[in-house]
Amino acid sequence: MLKRERTMSNPRLQEIITRSLQKREIRQNRCKGKENDLIRLIDGGGDELRGSILESYGAGWLISTSGGGLNPDLRRILASYRKPLYWKRLDQHQKESPQHLSGPEMPQFFTGKENGLTCRLSFQSGYSQGIFIDQRDNRAALRAMVKPGQSVLNTFAYTGFFSIAAAAAGAITSTLDLSQVYLDWARENFRLNQMSPEDHYFCKGDTFHWLRRFAKQGRKFDYIILDPPTFSRDDRGKVFRVEKDYSALFDLAASCLAPAGRILACTNFRGITLPEFMAQLKGAELKAVAMPSDFTDTPYLKSVWAHF
Ligand SMILES: C[S@@+](CC[C@H](N)C(=O)[O-])C[C@H]1O[C@@H](n2cnc3c(N)ncnc32)[C@H](O)[C@@H]1O
Repeated sequence: MLKRERTMSNPRLQEIITRSLQKREIRQNRCKGKENDLIRLIDGGGDELRGSILESYGAGWLISTSGGGLNPDLRRILASYRKPLYWKRLDQHQKESPQHLSGPEMPQFFTGKENGLTCRLSFQSGYSQGIFIDQRDNRAALRAMVKPGQSVLNTFAYTGFFSIAAAAAGAITSTLDLSQVYLDWARENFRLNQMSPEDHYFCKGDTFHWLRRFAKQGRKFDYIILDPPTFSRDDRGKVFRVEKDYSALFDLAASCLAPAGRILACTNFRGITLPEFMAQLKGAELKAVAMPSDFTDTPYLKSVWAHF
């Protein structure tokens, strides 16, 4: 049970927070033996707190709010748990690093655990903290499916945590991202998990460019992870939009898939429904999977395993 200082504040809000935290504690206790401290503790409307998301990143807590500021009662109650508390405005136009609010400050880089694997995190390196925790179950599924020696191509890889999950099961991974900063971060994640980045591949550049190259070379992968941002511009200025370009991305990935291989196709774009998304994944057997159970609000992340 999380301890907190006594505060004179909003009892209804306190009740919502206590209930949300207790719900997660029960869930955490259900998956005993697996270390997880990267968890969504309050999920907006799903926990009767529309517009506010609380997540734990290792020892730190991050409260993210949309529309305006942070409710002072919410701030006071969260501060009473005496955790390192940070705040981020959810704003797609002004993407800023979180701001320290109360409790001890976190170092520039620190770590958290997902199913026993260590992830390098930061509250000072921009809008995202080093991992997208909504992909936890998909990473666990990949880790459970992949066999030692199989190949995994992790495109739009960010800090490479799909690669870490696959490598933990003995896969040989290729981590692909536009950003050198994130590829270096991914290498660091390998080291933090006592795995040598030298045993794996890292590709800097555009996913489309690399997939075309792999297809031309006849290079095949047993698993391919596709989790692109809703909108992106490659190093040559070419634009990718989920609603328009996903089927081309999927087709290209399919041409690099080994026989009996699988593609994990994801999108967090809220502008399309799951059936509309699945309609873009042509010619494959598809199986959609749900979001992790700590995500109780509208399930925005669509995840589909595909095989041919
Ligand atoms: C939404 S994140 C991907 C999340 C990641 N799959 C995960 O679960 O951790 C987007 C990433 O895609 C990368 N990116 C954006 N456009 C790209 C492109 N055209 N080719 C390769 N990487 C790209 C960004 O640098 C960023 O790291």
